[in-house]
Amino acid sequence: MSGLFDLRILLADDLAFTDAFEAELRAKEPDVDLYRWPSLPDDGHFDVLLAWCLPDGLGRLPDSLAFVFCFGAGADQLLSDPRIPTRVPIARLVDENQAAQITDYAAHVAFARLLDQVTVKEDQARALWSEADGPRRPRDQLRVAVLGLGHIGARVASELARLGFSVQGWSRSHKSVPGVETFAGEDGLVTAVEAADVLINLLPLTAETEDILSQKLFARLSSGAYVANLGRGGHLDEAALLGALESGRVGAAWLDAFRQEPLVPDHPFWSHPRITITPHLAGIPTASGAANSLADCIDAFRRGFPLPNLVRPGRI
Ligand code: GLV
Repeated sequence: MSGLFDLRILLADDLAFTDAFEAELRAKEPDVDLYRWPSLPDDGHFDVLLAWCLPDGLGRLPDSLAFVFCFGAGADQLLSDPRIPTRVPIARLVDENQAAQITDYAAHVAFARLLDQVTVKEDQARALWSEADGPRRPRDQLRVAVLGLGHIGARVASELARLGFSVQGWSRSHKSVPGVETFAGEDGLVTAVEAADVLINLLPLTAETEDILSQKLFARLSSGAYVANLGRGGHLDEAALLGALESGRVGAAWLDAFRQEPLVPDHPFWSHPRITITPHLAGIPTASGAANSLADCIDAFRRGFPLPNLVRPGRI
């Protein structure tokens, strides 16, 4: 490290909010030396690397590197990057504003299922006056399953429960969330999604969660369930989703993340009448949230405390 106060930070990504983030960070941490890739300090040494994804041209990382800060909630794209030595801790951004946006998205899908929005639109397209044949369901009879109960998933699940939906949550290890029935482990997964009317995925992408949105899982949902993949494209077995839409097991899908982004123009998802595509915008970190979260890491680092929101501790 260069000294107690002149921490050198390399900002190695150019996201939409980067300029605003830089201004927020400089106001909060006037003592840091900030470089923006491809500019580097003359000696090539820096202490902190900020990135969503490492740029292609970034070569070997310097021995001075003390930690990496992920510019996003999911850090799979950094965890799998062999250029980051395993000794280097990786922390991620935690931004309440981002969590709030994702909650809005999830609530939108839950309300859409309550009103069966997709059928309503299809009937409208055919000028079909299809009268309701029974009483409308109250919210507490709509089962919403939330996969992933980290910072964002727990907030989504508890807010949907506060809105009156019947919410089941699942995570790999057991978590308690107010108002939510929680399950863990492989057996718990099936119970958590059993007869769900809405399935919201907010898991991190790992070897265990890849393709978790599978034919086997869809088969447990209630008929016509709405599915929202707000995690990563790698969570979704695409053929299984198309099959479940075809059979009617899944009534509609909202997809925000894809195996390849941008989604290629000839992908069948684009034209599917029951799929809504959003281009990875369910939760965009805000400049102030990202700067606060990084400032918490810098503060902990300077005091010699463990970094908050670690996704990989790093080892010697
Ligand atoms: C978005 O995908 C994020 O991980 O923040």
